[in-house]
Amino acid sequence: MTVGKIAVIGTGYVGLTSGACLASLGHQVVCGDVVPEKVASLSAGHVPILEDGLDALVAEGLASGNLSFVLGADVAVKGAKYIFLSLPTPDDGDGRADLSIVRAVAKQIGPLLEPGAIVITKSTVPVGTAKKLEKIIGREDVALVSNPEFLQEGTAVKNFMKPDRVVVGSSDLAAAREVGELYASLGAPLVVTSAESSEMIKYAANAFLAMKLSFVNSIAALAEEVGADIQEITRGMKDDPRIGDKFLKAGPGWGGSCFPKDTNALAAIADDHDIRFPLLDATVTANRQAKDRVVDKIRAAVGGDLEGKTVALWGLTFKAGTDDLRDSPALLISKLLAGEGALLRAYDPTVHEDLEASARNPEITVASDPHAAAEGADVIALLTEWPEFADIDLQKTAVSTGTRTIVDGRNMLSPEAVTAAGFTLIPLGRQP
Ligand SMILES: NC(=O)c1ccc[n+]([C@@H]2O[C@H](COP(=O)([O-])OP(=O)(O)OC[C@H]3O[C@@H](n4cnc5c(N)ncnc54)[C@H](O)[C@@H]3O)[C@@H](O)[C@H]2O)c1
Repeated sequence: MTVGKIAVIGTGYVGLTSGACLASLGHQVVCGDVVPEKVASLSAGHVPILEDGLDALVAEGLASGNLSFVLGADVAVKGAKYIFLSLPTPDDGDGRADLSIVRAVAKQIGPLLEPGAIVITKSTVPVGTAKKLEKIIGREDVALVSNPEFLQEGTAVKNFMKPDRVVVGSSDLAAAREVGELYASLGAPLVVTSAESSEMIKYAANAFLAMKLSFVNSIAALAEEVGADIQEITRGMKDDPRIGDKFLKAGPGWGGSCFPKDTNALAAIADDHDIRFPLLDATVTANRQAKDRVVDKIRAAVGGDLEGKTVALWGLTFKAGTDDLRDSPALLISKLLAGEGALLRAYDPTVHEDLEASARNPEITVASDPHAAAEGADVIALLTEWPEFADIDLQKTAVSTGTRTIVDGRNMLSPEAVTAAGFTLIPLGRQP
């Protein structure tokens, strides 16, 4: 299918997945990025991120000629009809989304766009951004469409190819529908809205999911006190279709590249419009408490003082199936532990670089396997739900570790296996 060339600006988790998937649907896609090494490596078929199925799609796209990578947004937009902006919108430090990169790219590409081009924001951007970008681009013959991305890291390709829905919003509804057509073969419901609603949908969806997790984590805390079990509680909740089974697992708090910045950005939007949103504030507070509770458990496990104690961390990424460490609860917990003088040795299947040498996480030493991380440790803390931890050979761990205690921040380990290996299990939201 060829309906007009597609340019994707920014080849991160969202841009690369979108570009490769759109190419596999038969579209002609050119992806542009500012990092020369990334462009060179992608052009050679090397995918720098861990996403199930992405390597194969990139290889397929390069081989078919449907997918290519170029340096710079200006080069990518040449002759393009559809321009997807998949650029970073990080927290500006004040809770708001930092739109400087999105604005700069809009300014850069404005004069270069083909007449009739459609610029599509796939980045998560605050309400009113489409209007602002229209002004920056300053072209009557170019339409702006908001098309938020709902993919989840680790299953991004699957999410893109089998979306629950495709949302397109614009003041130009014909342009919105045209963008929706690019996904037509996926058979997902198309939700056509105003640009403002579309921009809000993404924030509302992420904040709602974060709220659900914070709620479950607070119930888990309460369960410990009243003698209940969070696993049993959620088992009894999940079959109610009004609740559902997703985002109903207790854990060390939510994190990642989206939820923290998006909940903050939504709170800032509410604040800017003088709308009180206590539920959102509580969602963020409860998330901080969830991390603090894990730290409390780890501290208690070593006798109340972390100074000089070695904590073995099983898992560093913000969730399983991804190599993304951005705002990972495990890293935030590490910082709290290090702040109290703990020594940290971690194992994560996707973290091979020496984090010790990294300026971002100087307090963590990375081990090559979970047993090595646990060697001589004073406590083990399981923080990311990598499936391999569920089957870990705890008898082997027991041989060289210094501890008899495992804090299971994901409730993954079988209490029987832990006990059989001679450890004490400290779970979340359940009785030890
Ligand atoms: N990661 C997710 O799971 C996810 C899901 C849905 C939505 N989003 C949103 O999508 C957007 C992108 O997120 P991401 O995780 O893919 O980010 P990312 O940091 O992984 O990727 C961004 C890419 O943009 C490139 N870039 C930066 N400046 C550029 C410029 N001037 N020109 C061209 N390329 C440039 C970077 O080099 C990088 O490759 C954000 O707004 C995010 O909130 C992310």
